[in-house]
Amino acid sequence: MEKKSWKESYTELQRLVLPPDTNIFNDLYGGRLVEWIDNVAAIVAAKHSRRRTVTGSIDSLFFLSPIHMGDIVHLTGRINYVTRSTMEIEVDVYSEEGLTGEKSFTTTCFLTYVAINQDSKPTEVPGLVLETDDDIQRFKQGEARSLVRHQNLLEAKKKLENFK
Ligand SMILES: CC(C)(COP(=O)(O)OP(=O)(O)OC[C@H]1O[C@@H](n2cnc3c(N)ncnc32)[C@H](O)[C@@H]1OP(=O)(O)O)[C@@H](O)C(=O)NCCC(=O)NCCS
Repeated sequence: MEKKSWKESYTELQRLVLPPDTNIFNDLYGGRLVEWIDNVAAIVAAKHSRRRTVTGSIDSLFFLSPIHMGDIVHLTGRINYVTRSTMEIEVDVYSEEGLTGEKSFTTTCFLTYVAINQDSKPTEVPGLVLETDDDIQRFKQGEARSLVRHQNLLEAKKKLENFK
């Protein structure tokens, strides 16, 4: 399968925060932001793999500044790392105050998408072309996070075995 550049799947999304997206304090719900993050990552996964994909995991997520009603939320999604059937996608989020243009960084998070076939079994995805030092660095960092994730997945699967 031919390798692909991250540029082929890079995705940008902007959303205006409206009343249905907010809590009683007029701040954006965390869950709504997670939905948008997952949506951006799903687009990246689809463009890179051209396969059916599912969200496997979302790494820990820290919300560093509140987002208010009327703000513009900017999300970017970029693939950093792949294994045979998985893709690590980084989503960066910042908000922009509608009236002043003031920008606040919100979060960076890493999602793992798994490509699946018609039988819902993991299936192969294209490798990543690594063109620059930054691409290589991101790939190595993704690999390191993947090792931690494998360990966490083993722990999670133990709970699955005990679930009756
Ligand atoms: C993700 C899923 C397809 C994996 O199936 P599986 O048979 O357990 O997959 P395998 O054990 O063969 O693992 C294949 C690869 O996926 C990785 N993987 C499996 N489950 C994962 C998870 N939940 N998160 C991250 N990576 C995962 C494995 O580490 C392995 O990676 P590797 O190629 O780097 O070694 C399956 O667990 C599933 O369908 N989960 C539900 C997904 C879903 O519905 N998401 C939406 C939210 S509910």
